[in-house]
Order: sequence, then structure tokens, then C-alpha cells
Amino acid sequence: MTKILPLAAFALLAPIVLVGCGSDGYSSAIVYGVRTDPLVLDDKLGKEGYEPDRPGVLPILLAKDVDNPFNPMYEKGASLFKDGLLRDPTKISDKDRRTLSKILQAYFGRPGEPQVAGVDSTATRILKLDQDTLSAGSQLYRLHCLHCHGLAGDGRGPTGRWVNPHPRDYRLGLFKFTSVDQSDVPRPPSRGDLYRTLQTGIDGTAMPAFNMLTGDDLQNLVSYIIHLSLRGKVEFETIKKAFDYDPAKGTLSITEDGRDDVYNYIDAMVSEFVSLFAKDWVESQTKTIAAPSYPYADFDKETRAMTAELKESIQRGQKLFLGEGADKAKGVMPSKEEAKKANCVSCHIDYGRQARYKFDAWGTLVKAQNLTNPIRRGGDRPIDVFYRIHSGINGSGMVAHSKLEPNHIWDLVNFVQTLPFPAMRKAAGIEID
Ligand code: HEC
Ligand code: HEC
Repeated sequence: MTKILPLAAFALLAPIVLVGCGSDGYSSAIVYGVRTDPLVLDDKLGKEGYEPDRPGVLPILLAKDVDNPFNPMYEKGASLFKDGLLRDPTKISDKDRRTLSKILQAYFGRPGEPQVAGVDSTATRILKLDQDTLSAGSQLYRLHCLHCHGLAGDGRGPTGRWVNPHPRDYRLGLFKFTSVDQSDVPRPPSRGDLYRTLQTGIDGTAMPAFNMLTGDDLQNLVSYIIHLSLRGKVEFETIKKAFDYDPAKGTLSITEDGRDDVYNYIDAMVSEFVSLFAKDWVESQTKTIAAPSYPYADFDKETRAMTAELKESIQRGQKLFLGEGADKAKGVMPSKEEAKKANCVSCHIDYGRQARYKFDAWGTLVKAQNLTNPIRRGGDRPIDVFYRIHSGINGSGMVAHSKLEPNHIWDLVNFVQTLPFPAMRKAAGIEID
């Protein structure tokens, strides 16, 4: 009996071991793979303005997409590659791709066995990147997110091309809706920001609210997003730095420094990027935007009318928005210099009603929001709008306005939140037509 048991156990387990499964039963034959879609190195990608990407046409899925007349990049076409605005990673030799794939797998594992190797234990703890958490996150992700955000978090899942705005591609390490101070450099979000996005969804877009998952499930998903984002950004920067583009031949070959020992060259680079980008994520966890508390009462308790202070603030907000300050900061109006710093109308033309499409950091199209519409993707609490104005919206071209006085940011918040509602505009004495 005692001899048979181990044998029986082997017989039972052998098929699983031989076929090869990850720790959660997902086939270990499935790997993230090295990216095949072009790297966007610049946002001057083609015909902008009135040419939105159409449903079903993701601007850039493969290099040949620029040859499609429906693609907004069609006008510049192949020159985008020659001029270095896009880079096609399929031009890397098969041998070098295999090396890169092997190294990335050594650090980040596979979907069935995700991990983040090469970061210190403090980062692993703060960002919750232990294997158990990642493995649980990966299972949930494949169930709920993959069809939009893609297996590797590239935003190119099968559903992704049909929805606009397209699902976030995590591989740039850029996230839009954060409470993290972005005034000097773009930074990753806090775990709390990602948690909130999952819990509330993103208003006005296809991103659902996952409010029926448990808190633990959401935390596991947050860790997994960090894992995918780190992996994607390391891959992006490594392809960008380790390979030279030859415009004549159209090839990407390993830079001269790496030719003698490709494996160790790439490995050292990946190792450096992993710890560098993990450090950015760790720093973000404590870099919340400093916002003074909201200084206004909405209504006068006695008359039930808008308070005079709030009314003044909304009017100041409009001046700032239009970049129109007073010569001397008379009374309650902002100075010319201060208003020039805001000048929201330069992008939100006609309060956003006539804003133009532009390419964003992901190579998709975005336009400055029509702010007469009440939907705020990043949340519509006053503090959410404060964060957007203070630190901008990463990747979208909406710049940070952290140089404005904090109270002027509150004025802009008040104005922007009044804009969609005719009765409130009237009460505040605001004209927009
Ligand atoms: C039906 C498609 C769809 C599904 C399913 C979906 N998302 Fe999204 N997601 C989107 C879209 C679209 C956006 C981009 C919205 C935008 O740019 O404003 C987005 C954006 C995001 C962002 C970026 C937020 C930011 O601040 O930039 C995160 C993080 C995210 N999704 C995580 C998830 C996770 C995790 C799941 C699964 C639990 C998931 N999504 C499922 C469509 C989807
Ligand atoms: C350089 C161009 C630019 C400037 C200047 C600019 N914005 Fe934006 N803004 C954008 C773009 C682009 C978006 C849309 C981002 C997206 O959809 O991802 C946006 C979106 C917004 C949103 C929507 C946020 C949400 O949660 O949906 C608000 C509010 C906003 N801007 C307010 C302002 C205010 C106030 C100012 C002036 C202080 C300003 N913007 C200046 C480009 C700009």
C-alpha cells in the first residue's frame, strides 16, 4: 500500500506536470510575449483635428495599419517609422527577440505564474507584489479585464478596438486619474487611485464599475495592474534603448555596446529599469497633492440662495478659464499673469464645445473635454476636479496647473462644475454663449 500511494499520486499528477500548468492551472505555454505593436515615441502622428479613430480601427495595432486609408495616421504613413515617431518591434531579429522574451520572463513570469523579480523587499511589501497576490490578481484579470485590456495590459483585447476611448494600455506606466502630485514629472498612481477606478469605473467610458467584487479581489487586481504596467514599461524602454534603428534597412539591431554579449547587456538594462520604475511606484504612494480644504458653502442657510462668496468664486473661475485677468488684481479678480497661467480655453475651445482631436501618448485620439457636459471621468467630487486641474491628465496633453494659487484652483473647480447647468449659471451670473 505504502509503495502504491506515491505511484498513484504520480500517475494522477503526471498529466498536469507534463502538459505544464501555471500555479493556477492556466497553461504555462501561454506567455506574455514580446510586443508586436509599434512603440509611440512622439505624438505628431498624422492628420488631427476632425479625424477621430473609427470603431473597430485602433490607430496602431500593427505597423501595416498606417497603410489603411481609414487610419488617422494614413497621411504620414510609413514616414512615421523613417522619421522615428513610431518604432516597429517586429523588426528585431528572431534571435534577439527570443533573448528579450526569456529575460522579461525571468523577471515577470507568465500569466499563470506572474511575479516581479529584481525589486527589493520594501517595494514588494508596499506595492503588494508577492506571488500569491499577483496570482490571484491574474486570475481575476483574465476573467474580468482581459477582453478589453489585453493579456499583457496593452489595451488591445478583442473588445478594445470597438470602444472609444480605448481601454488603457498600461505599458507606458501612465494613468490618467490620480491623486499623486504630477507637477514636476508624470508619476504612477497610488494604489488607492487604482482601487477607486476599479470600484467606481470611469464615467462616460466603457470602463465598468467592479463594485460587486470584494475589497480583497480589488486589491489583488491593483497589484496585478502594477505588475503589468511595470513589465510593459520595462519592455518599452528596453526596446527603445537597447536597439538601434536603421532607416535605410528598416531594421532594429542591438546597439554596439551590447553586441559582444547580448544576454547580459539586456539583462543588466532590464534589471536597472525594473528597480528604477518600481521606485517611482513606491514614491507615488506618499506623494498626494496638497489641497487646502474646500473653502465655500454652497447655499446661504437662511435664504437658500447661492452665497455671494461662491458666486464671486465662480466668476473668478470663468476669468481664469478664459485667461482674462484684470490689469491690477482689483478686488476679487485674478491678475493678468495668474490668468495667463490658467488659460484653459487654449485647449478647451468654446468651453470644449469646439475642441479639436489630438494624438495622445498612446497614439490614440483625444480631445479636450466639452466641459458643458456634466460627465467627469476622473470623478465629480470637488477634490477630484481639483486634482485634475492641479496635476493635469497624464498622456492626454492636459497639462498640470500646479503653479496656480490653490484658491484659484478652487475657483476653477467651482466654475467648471457650474458650467453644465443652466440654472446654476444663471444664479452665478455666468454667460457662455
Ligand atoms: C468593456 C471594456 C473594459 C473592461 C472590461 C475593463 N476596462 Fe478598464 N478601461 C476601459 C476603458 C475604455 C478605459 C479608459 C477610459 C479613459 O481613457 O478615460 C479603462 C481604463 C482603465 C484604467 C486606467 C485608469 C486611469 O487612471 O488611467 C485602469 C487601471 C483599468 N481600466 C483597469 C481595469 C481592470 C483591472 C479591469 C478588470 C477588473 C478593467 N479595467 C476592465 C475599458 C474596460
Ligand atoms: C494643453 C491642453 C489643455 C489645457 C491647457 C487644459 N486642458 Fe483640460 N483637458 C485637456 C484634454 C485633452 C482633456 C481630456 C483628457 C481625456 O479625455 O483623457 C481635458 C480634460 C479636462 C477635464 C475633464 C476631467 C475629467 O475628469 O473628465 C477638466 C475638468 C478639465 N480638462 C479642466 C481644465 C481646466 C480648468 C483647465 C485650465 C486650468 C484646463 N483643463 C486646461 C486638455 C487641456
